[in-house]
Amino acid sequence: MRKMLIYAGILALSCFIACKTNNEQSVLPLDSGWKFNTGDDQAWATAAYNDGSWKTIDPKKNWEDQGYKGYDGFAWYRMHIMIPSSLKANAFIKDSLQIQLGRIDDCDQVFLNGELIGENGRTIYNKKEPSIEFFKEQGRWYVDRRYVLAANDPRIRWDQENLIAIRSYDQGGAGGLNGKPFGISMADLQDHIKFDFSSAAFTFGSDSTITKKFTILNLSGTEEFKGKLTIDAILNDNGINIYSECTGMDITPKLKLEKSVTFKKNLASPATLKVTFTESTSGKTITDQFEIPYILTPKPGLKPMINGAKVFGVRPYSPFQFKVAATGKPPLRYSAVDLPQGLMIDAANGLITGSLKKKGDYKVKLMVENELGFARRELKIVVGDVISLTPPLGWNSWNCWGLSVSDQKIRQSANAMKSSGLIDHGWTYINIDDGWEDKHDKDGNILTNAKFPNMKGLCSYVHSLGLKIGIYSSPGPKTCGGYEGSYTYEAKDAQNYANWGIDYLKYDWCSYGTLAPKPSIDQMKEPYREMKHAIRKVNRDIHYSLCQYGMGDVWGWGAEVDGNSWRTTGDIEDTWESLSAIGFSQGKCSPWSAPGRWNDPDMLVVGWVGWGPALHYTRLTTNEQYTHITLWSLLAAPLLIGCDLSQLDAFTLNLLTNDEVLAVNQDPLGKQAVQIKKTDDYEIWARDLEDGSQAIGLFNKTEKVYNVPVDLKDLNIKGKPVMRDLWSQADLGKVCTHFEMKTQPHGARMIRLTK
Ligand code: GAL
Repeated sequence: MRKMLIYAGILALSCFIACKTNNEQSVLPLDSGWKFNTGDDQAWATAAYNDGSWKTIDPKKNWEDQGYKGYDGFAWYRMHIMIPSSLKANAFIKDSLQIQLGRIDDCDQVFLNGELIGENGRTIYNKKEPSIEFFKEQGRWYVDRRYVLAANDPRIRWDQENLIAIRSYDQGGAGGLNGKPFGISMADLQDHIKFDFSSAAFTFGSDSTITKKFTILNLSGTEEFKGKLTIDAILNDNGINIYSECTGMDITPKLKLEKSVTFKKNLASPATLKVTFTESTSGKTITDQFEIPYILTPKPGLKPMINGAKVFGVRPYSPFQFKVAATGKPPLRYSAVDLPQGLMIDAANGLITGSLKKKGDYKVKLMVENELGFARRELKIVVGDVISLTPPLGWNSWNCWGLSVSDQKIRQSANAMKSSGLIDHGWTYINIDDGWEDKHDKDGNILTNAKFPNMKGLCSYVHSLGLKIGIYSSPGPKTCGGYEGSYTYEAKDAQNYANWGIDYLKYDWCSYGTLAPKPSIDQMKEPYREMKHAIRKVNRDIHYSLCQYGMGDVWGWGAEVDGNSWRTTGDIEDTWESLSAIGFSQGKCSPWSAPGRWNDPDMLVVGWVGWGPALHYTRLTTNEQYTHITLWSLLAAPLLIGCDLSQLDAFTLNLLTNDEVLAVNQDPLGKQAVQIKKTDDYEIWARDLEDGSQAIGLFNKTEKVYNVPVDLKDLNIKGKPVMRDLWSQADLGKVCTHFEMKTQPHGARMIRLTK
């Protein structure tokens, strides 16, 4: 009791000091002073509980990085804090208090003075802890935690000590609070008014016009703001204003107003749209900007061109399917010389099918003709043990449809893969992620849920378009989305996949963590080995994609369990933070990448994404998207488009159909790029290609245009190589020992140097 009093006294004193010094503060920081305890007890939500014996923790870093390695399950964070009424008195807008808690991995319930004020989570399967069921909402862990209360909410104790308690649950990740920002403040203008550029795409009109729609939102249900709205479009290279508008604006409570601007712009010039609202009484401004898409790659010509992989691996006796990817004015006629016995090519669509019995290498001469000419190219077929000799190019349902994926959406995507022309550039796989499963029946066959009435029919349909199809499961009893996994049914599942005609399996750790809570490397390999045996028994080549977020440095042993690719990271998001953190950290796994054994830094976040069912246009800027595709191509990463293919806009399509960029990704040497140079401002990555040339990416990490300097010595190049700009497909002549390349904010240049 005595101890408690002393403790309370210390708290009161520290609060008093904080209040005095922070009197005029507009944000009460919450980035230090947290107490932490693993376990779960509802009493920990209350102010009366004495957390004096708890450890302190930094909320900006996950708990696994702070002495709780391997801990999954419940843990609580507590913080005592005085909330001064001066916060409210000094605020411009006085109606709501917001508590910002960075991000939380995975689920959380937040209590203020013992009462629940908000939660974010999803139903998680955990045999040992059924109480987790209370997380009913299908939330996502990677969202900012911002809980807002009306200023007159009785749960807030103004000018007194308050207790914030966070009950969190981690299923298998790094655990707990992380990210930014952490603080308590009154919601201000910038918290209420938002310009949402992701609510609509843009359209390119004839005559170099571009139309961009965006939404002006007032998140406040009570506040009205009057002022003026200015919109400017400015060319990045010379600051010239190409569009300007200024109007009076009344932003009423809950406003959701779509605005559309149209102006002329050279398609290839980077430019920025700036939108500013100036509130008239306070003079406060809210400003945001959008990079107007610019197109660098010329459209494919009318004469035939053969694209896609130059080498293809297949196992003896497996059904063979390879689509010759080609562009040119239709109709195209396809033929092949020296096709080994057992294979045939369809002259009308370029589909090579059949099967081969004998191991060995076969060199086939492909030819594609139309009325304007012909193209020839060699395809090396390698009949052996290893498949996926170039990284898979395709689409996956997760980043757009999430768990709302259905048969209809898969067919739609397959149709769009073909009709958009992506198929003519080598894009092949249509992969169903989580959300198709039902239960295993009494004979152990996995059943599909109502959204997938006929899986075999769906697979045949996708194959009939010249595409391949993938599926998803978990080695655990449940998938990450809570559907039935493959645990103890591996052999039956693999057999069913093969019967349906599946070509790709993404196998996601998820609830296997409940069977092996602190897995050794051997335990990590175990379930993947099990499924490897099951897949190898069926007479079908199935690309085996390991998904366990890089645990145990999977790149070092993924090949041993026969993985054709393995995720090296957690889930990607459509933000620069996520993209750059994942992309620029891939050097660590470069040495292990090889044909048929690819590092997978997760799927592409371009176009309309959203993890379903509601989609938004990617929050990556135009330049960040150039960085994304440049870097992933250099990294020899599987390229799995994550957007709704039926809503492909001209910019996204252009970004995904540059054959010279894709050729780097598909280069038969299969060497992943290495980091050549890294400063705070820029990075250079380079990759050796089969023909002796080098593909190089120059990345500007700053928010301004930056001239990235290149020194040929760093690239180990002597003499004067010839440079080609891969995005614009233009020769830039010979270069000398040093040169600089102008690179857009967060953008990239991609070049090829040939000696
Ligand atoms: C995650 C995985 C995602 C997606 C999801 C499905 O673990 O990383 O890519 O597959 O599960 O529930």
